[in-house]
Amino acid sequence: SLEGFTHYMEKEIYEQPSAVSNTIQALSGFAPEAYGFNAPDFFKKLNRILIIACGTSYYSGLVAKYWIEKIAKVHCNVEIASEYRYRESVPDPQCLVVAISQSGETADTLAALQHAKNQGMEMSLAICNVATSSLVKETEAHFITKAGTEIGVASTKAFTTQLIALYGLAVCIADIKNRLEQSKDYILDRLSEIPSLLKEVLSHRGAIEEWAQDFSNALNSIYLGRGQLYPVALEGALKLKEISYIHAEGYPSGELKHGPLALVDKMLPVLVIAPSNSLIEKVKSNIQEVKARKGRLYVLTNDESILESSTKNFHVIQLPKTHEDLESLVYTVPLQLLAYITATIKGTDVDKPRNLAKSVTVE
Ligand code: M6R
Repeated sequence: SLEGFTHYMEKEIYEQPSAVSNTIQALSGFAPEAYGFNAPDFFKKLNRILIIACGTSYYSGLVAKYWIEKIAKVHCNVEIASEYRYRESVPDPQCLVVAISQSGETADTLAALQHAKNQGMEMSLAICNVATSSLVKETEAHFITKAGTEIGVASTKAFTTQLIALYGLAVCIADIKNRLEQSKDYILDRLSEIPSLLKEVLSHRGAIEEWAQDFSNALNSIYLGRGQLYPVALEGALKLKEISYIHAEGYPSGELKHGPLALVDKMLPVLVIAPSNSLIEKVKSNIQEVKARKGRLYVLTNDESILESSTKNFHVIQLPKTHEDLESLVYTVPLQLLAYITATIKGTDVDKPRNLAKSVTVE
């Protein structure tokens, strides 16, 4: 039931603090057993990771690449399942194939997994929200995200719980390979702050409603982010497209000058994900580039100097501070809310957007 919410998507956005908390619990303190691998030997021998997925699950895979390479120092490729399954690639038997899927029934993801197996890549792990799904049956090991049933076509809590599972995987592999720079307890404590930070983010709904009024009048928009916030920009843009039918394009901020800057004028909303992290100075100069062309800026940040410079055409929402590695979790939620509220202003069928199905079981 909707429990007082207007749509399932809205309910599922608000369920994230508890869904994320339950998924953190399921990591069992970064034990390999949580992923179904009883022998740490397995992780010791792997030297590469291949992630295959579609849609939002693909974007969680893109975030995971940052973690797996930074924390576990293992090569990681992320492939769109529908591309990988038909591509001639170079197989590596020491590679762990990680298939990410909310439903576990996405035809392209299942076929991509089969393709990897046919090429001799036997080690497979599913990150999935449905324990009884085909994907879980067809993989050697699995981690079940604790999102609970997701009904809205636009994926929300499945995404953030996948992020937890993937962050946990990076920490777990790093630990087994003796590459962790902090203790597991310390890392777990930091991660355990995320549910309350998500609650805090949800309390900014009023400010996001104002942004949504503006977005609902737009035909196009650009979302910018750097590092692990680039895939978050892609995911935020996908949410807006799916349910509000407004074109949104996610871009790595550094690519602005390589093309999309030509689109910027006083009509174009440009959303920038700008936490105060090691890349903030770069992001600030991207903001200036947009400002100079009179683009309408919508900035999510916790940086004091950006907060101070907010003006009529430069909208800012302040988000809580977290460790740089975990920013993708905190910055995803306002983008979900923005898409949701924009769609409700437009009056679209939020839970069942036109032309889309919850799970794409045919090619
Ligand atoms: O069930 P899956 O995670 O395999 O689904 C993959 C995509 O179809 C899915 O994420 C889709 O992009 C969502 N509608 C995004 O909100």
